[in-house]
Formats: sequence, structure tokens, C-alpha cells
Amino acid sequence: MPVNVIVGAQWGDEGKGRVVDLLASQADIVARYSGGDNAGHTVTVGATTFKLHLLPSGIAHSHTVGLLGNGMVINPATLLEEIDQVRKVGVSINPDRIKISHAAHLITPGHRALDQAREQARGNAKIGTTGRGIGPAYTAKVNRSGLRMELMLSPEVFFSQLADHFQEVNFQLETIYQEPPLETQGIMQDFQVYLDRLQPYITETGAYAAQALGDGKTILAEGAQGTLLDLDHGTYPYVTSSTPTAPGALVGLGLGLGAVDRVIGVVKAFQTRVGEGPFPTELEGELAERLRGTGENEWDEYGTTTGRPRRVGWLDLVLLRYAIRVNGFSEIALTKLDILSGIEGLKICTAYQSGGDTYQTLPLGPGALEGKKAIFEELPGWEEDITSIRHWEDLPANAQKYVEALEGFLGVSVSIISVGPERSQVIQR
Ligand code: GDP
Ligand code: IMO
Ligand code: MG
Repeated sequence: MPVNVIVGAQWGDEGKGRVVDLLASQADIVARYSGGDNAGHTVTVGATTFKLHLLPSGIAHSHTVGLLGNGMVINPATLLEEIDQVRKVGVSINPDRIKISHAAHLITPGHRALDQAREQARGNAKIGTTGRGIGPAYTAKVNRSGLRMELMLSPEVFFSQLADHFQEVNFQLETIYQEPPLETQGIMQDFQVYLDRLQPYITETGAYAAQALGDGKTILAEGAQGTLLDLDHGTYPYVTSSTPTAPGALVGLGLGLGAVDRVIGVVKAFQTRVGEGPFPTELEGELAERLRGTGENEWDEYGTTTGRPRRVGWLDLVLLRYAIRVNGFSEIALTKLDILSGIEGLKICTAYQSGGDTYQTLPLGPGALEGKKAIFEELPGWEEDITSIRHWEDLPANAQKYVEALEGFLGVSVSIISVGPERSQVIQR
């Protein structure tokens, strides 16, 4: 009765969607456990590319059931839009296939307006959020004033609480942020449509998952964001408001500690970050442009959710060792190795320097990353295009050495190497 957990090991966009899609062929259930539509997970199957924000990345496999767990915050407008989009390419979505936790929280246009107003008010100290209302929705949850999905099962109570919510939001918008209030009449009508359409999907997903595990089924838990964006363990305050790290899978799905089998850390072969915050291995100039791409290719480093160019840099092993510690990775899935083809010297950060001291680990965690200077080791690159390679033995010797060097530094094996966005572009070891 295994639960296998997929976690982003860096600042998000490591290629989690791609790895989930790969492993979903052997899973019965694929379950998102945290975050909301701040996530953007790309899955490419043949000529079809799915850009998923809320639906689990396993949906392209018709045998899977998708769960949206209690740890999530869900914007019903985005979810319904996404359901309509994937239906257009022939994916079947119905309450037997997709189940939404009664305890997941709703995101409203009120949360989005507050997110954007707060970011504006922060000025230079802004976090660079996706503006999707994530922070305010989780704040309401912690404040015990959130709107849970289950309210949609009691329409009268739901609309009364929704009206109170908008009154509170408008008070904050007007008095704290000097912003115009939201026109709520139309929004309330929209929510009637959301309620009518989503009611049949709402269920106790934790009980469903437990029953499935009891029946011998396999659950793939799909993380969103990444370890360094974790509210507790990330580069605070430049983090998201949820728990993307592996333990969040259990809380966010309502499962016990004994359920987990594999914890797969998804690591991009270099490092990217969207939004503000420290980034010791960040690159600028020609090499940065080379890693980021021009935006011409689907896989170039521009945000799936916001379209922002991602900041890019060399792989950071200090932060990866930390990610291994807080997640307990049993293995690593390494993505985008193909992007390193043709770069002469490949640098990896093995330690930091600050105030005359050298650090292999961070004494106060990644929240204290500011001012740390990366110390690099250089590995030889390779020229060959590796996107058609499917077997370890066929990789250029220096590509094998790069992977083996990571394994040596990290003490965790790389079980999956992705060499392109398409489902089949992978080397499994
Ligand atoms: P996620 O948020 O972790 O699911 O990652 P995103 O989907 O936001 O970003 C990863 C991007 O890289 C997507 O465009 C993927 O299609 C693409 N991708 C994933 N793995 C590979 C790979 O091995 N090589 C290349 N070239 N692209 C990849
Ligand atoms: P996936 O699942 C990359 C970042 C935002 C910002 C910070 C807080 O596709 O990997 P938020 O809107 O969550 O309050 O923003 O977190 N962020 C992500 N960066 N990938 C993501 O998701 C992200 N989700 C949030 O850019 O820096
Ligand atoms: Mg993404």
C-alpha cells in the first residue's frame, strides 16, 4: 500500500509535472497535496502539452483518479477553466475521476485582490508572489476564517459566509490599502455557477485515499512549488504560504506516517527561481541567457503561471543537501540535463563563504542565505545532443561524470534522468 511522494528540491519548476506523468503509469491515484494555482506543471505527451495549475499531472493517464487534497487552496474559476481545457483535448473529467477534499480552502477574487494590494504596499520589499491569492487564502485558513470546500454542500451557509468574507475584504482594501472595493454582486452570481458545477466533486478524499491504500492501490503524491519555497523550511520570507516538502504530503492528504514508500526529489540540472529573494549561484549575461532560453521553446525558463522570465544559475549542492535533510529523499529525478549540452565548464556550488568563514551547511538554514558567496567546483562539459538517448551507457562520459559527481556529493542516487520534456525522453536506471 505505497504512497510515493514527488517533491521539488529547489525553488519550484524543477519538472515535477513531467516526472509525475512518467510515474503515473504505475499509480492508481495521483494527488496534489499543497498550494493552488500558483503552480504550473507542464506535461508533454507526443504533440500535446498540458499546462496544469490545479488538476494533478496524472490526468493524462486515463486509468488514474485525481485527488485535490485538503492541503490545497482552490480557485474554483481557474479549476473549471482548466477542466474545460483538458476536456477539449479528450481527457475525461467527472466525479468518479476527480475528487476534491471537503477540507481544501477556496480562493476568491477577494484573496487575489488582497494578495496584489499587499504586494504593491510592500514596495521594494515585495515577495514577487504570483498574485493568485495564495497568501491571503492560507492566512484566512490559519486565522480560522477560511472558506472550506465543504461549505458548498450547504448553499445557504456558504453564501452567508461568502457575503461576510467580501465585506471583510472590502473593508481591508479600502481602509488599509486605499484600493476600490470589489463589486460583489456579479462575483456572488459566479459562485452560484461554481457551486452547481463543483458540488458533485466534493468528498472526504482522506477516507478515499485510505480505502484505496487498504485495497492495495498506489498513490502518487504530487508536490507543488519546491523545498526552498516551503513556509517553514524555505528562504523565508521569500516563500509561499504552504508546506511543499514531503511531510506536507501526509498532512495535505490526511494520511498517516506509515504510508510512505519512495520520496522522489525532483532536481533540475541547474537552478532557477521566479520572484524575489537570495540566489547565491545566480548567473547573468550570456550564460544566463543560454540556460534560460529565448522563450521560443515550450521548455524555456519563463513562468508557466505568470510568464515571468525565471532567474537562472548553477546547481547548488549546499541547498540540495539541505533539501535531502528536510525531505528524506530516497532518490533523485534529475531533469533538463539536455540543456547543459554544449556548455564548456559546468560549475556546481559545493560550499559558501561569508565573513571569512566557509560553510558546507547553513547554520540558520536558507532563511539566512543573504550575503553568502558561492564556492564552485568545475566539471568538464559535453558537446553531444543527448535528447534522443534512452540508456545510461549511451550518455557521453562527461554527462555520466556530472551525474555521478552529484550522487557522490549528495549521497543519494539519481534513478531518473530526463533529457527532454516529452514523456519518452527519459533514462531510467
Ligand atoms: P514543474 O512546475 O516542476 O512541474 O515544472 P514546470 O512545468 O513549471 O517547468 C519545467 C519545464 O521544463 C516545462 O516546460 C517542462 O516541459 C520542461 N522539462 C521538463 N523536463 C525537461 C527536460 O528534461 N528537458 C527539457 N528540455 N525540458 C524539460
Ligand atoms: P510550481 O509548482 C516557482 C513563488 C513565487 C514567489 C513565491 C510566493 O510550478 O513549481 P505565492 O504566489 O505562492 O504566494 O508566491 O513563490 N512560486 C513559485 N515559483 N514555481 C512555483 O510552482 C511557484 N509557486 C509559487 O514566484 O516567489
Ligand atoms: Mg512550474
